[in-house]
Amino acid sequence: MSNRFAVVLAAGQGTRMKSKLYKVMHPVMGKPMVGHVVDQALEAKMDKVVTVTGVGAETVKDYLGEKSEYVLQEEQLGTAHAVEQAADLLKGEDGTTLVICGDTPLLTTDTLEKLMAHHEESGAKATVLTAHAENPFGYGRVIRSEEGAVSKIVEQKDASEEEQAVQEINTGTYCFDNRALFDALEKVDNNNSQGEYYLPDVMEILKDQSELISAYQLEDKSEALGVNDRVALAEASRLMKKRINEKHMRNGVTLVDPDQTYIESDVVIGQDTVVEPGVYLKGQTVIGEDSFIGAHSIIEDSEIGSQVKVRSSLIESSKMGDNSDVGPNSHLRPDTVLEEKVHVGNFVEIKKSTLGKNTKVGHLTYVGDATLGENINLGCGTVFVNYDGKQKHHIEVGDNSFIGCNTNLIAPVSVESNTYIAAGSTITDTVPSEALAIARVRQVNKEGYFKNMPHKN
Ligand code: UD1
Ligand code: MG
Repeated sequence: MSNRFAVVLAAGQGTRMKSKLYKVMHPVMGKPMVGHVVDQALEAKMDKVVTVTGVGAETVKDYLGEKSEYVLQEEQLGTAHAVEQAADLLKGEDGTTLVICGDTPLLTTDTLEKLMAHHEESGAKATVLTAHAENPFGYGRVIRSEEGAVSKIVEQKDASEEEQAVQEINTGTYCFDNRALFDALEKVDNNNSQGEYYLPDVMEILKDQSELISAYQLEDKSEALGVNDRVALAEASRLMKKRINEKHMRNGVTLVDPDQTYIESDVVIGQDTVVEPGVYLKGQTVIGEDSFIGAHSIIEDSEIGSQVKVRSSLIESSKMGDNSDVGPNSHLRPDTVLEEKVHVGNFVEIKKSTLGKNTKVGHLTYVGDATLGENINLGCGTVFVNYDGKQKHHIEVGDNSFIGCNTNLIAPVSVESNTYIAAGSTITDTVPSEALAIARVRQVNKEGYFKNMPHKN
């Protein structure tokens, strides 16, 4: 197999997006479009990936890191000019060069491999990936001769009425013989309605040199979607979401209503886990087997074990051990760790805290900046008072402690293991092991008080 190179075009600001964010950095199901494109290209086993970025597009470089090499296109003079920027890295090399646009996130590795195989087998100097579009508006049209051979590609703005009626579109993805590509690029001009150097013009230039040019038509035309505005961005997300959801269902995950389930690209879910409607799983979330993620839960960048139950809750950058449960209506804020069999009930907020095995927090409780051991019971309304207005302080609670309802633990403080705290206590000092702490004013009953009170009725 000859050398394979990929050039990813990602320098355009994307005027039609009307955004401060570079177009190719807009996420589709949690991953920037250019990330989808580069990952698919890398999976197709490229020897070298070169990404063309624009001035100010450091975000693209920062995001992709070492996945790619980079060249800078200082002025966006068109897609042919963009590819030409890679000349220093590629010109003169023997091999096949795949050119992909950073704004076609739905293209699959399978398609890229088939395109390259078709190109290499046909012996063409250039092959364009085409698709049939019901509504081809905005795309370059593939113009074929009467015999069916590709003769050129015309852009929407340059197309005659007859050409505009053509429904075969250019997906913006091509394979070239690397040497032929860089030689032809030197001949591309900008005599067109947009005054830009168009990459598709390379096809006609090569054909005029009597070189063989070819086309490969996509089987699944939805892969062709090029995102130029936010309407197309939403459409790309819808299609990507469907693709991701089908992958999980095929892997043995039950999605009760996949149309209403949002799972970002990098999420991993184990077999026999059930996900109810309205769930949004984001970022680098991993979920084990036989778990249940109930309706309207949002889980972001978290590690959820097996046989876990989450009901209508928000979980951010946290860990839940096997057989633990949360919700309904609770919030695990970043750096929360629930070890095995921890129970967190309703209306509980936990932040930057570890709860040991079998510990239970049933209701209406705030835990912040704390380390809790095993088998602890926190009564309803317990508050970890961790903030003095300037600084956060730590609280330790030892194993087997029973914290009565409505207790305030004023940080920094320690509750040692095997202790009781009476309901309504405000704890400011260490509770020693084996003790019962009561820290509240005793009840006083004033006999006969009611009848002496002046009241209105
Ligand atoms: C392009 C094709 C069109 C095709 C469509 C598919 C050309 C002239 N037209 O049109 O035939 O149907 O894609 O989606 O190529 N870019 C640069 N530098 C530039 C200009 C663009 O890096 O100077 C990058 C953009 O960031 C983008 C890609 O190239 O990722 C395509 O540019 P875009 O402006 O979206 O081209 P389209 O009008 O969509
Ligand atoms: Mg485009």
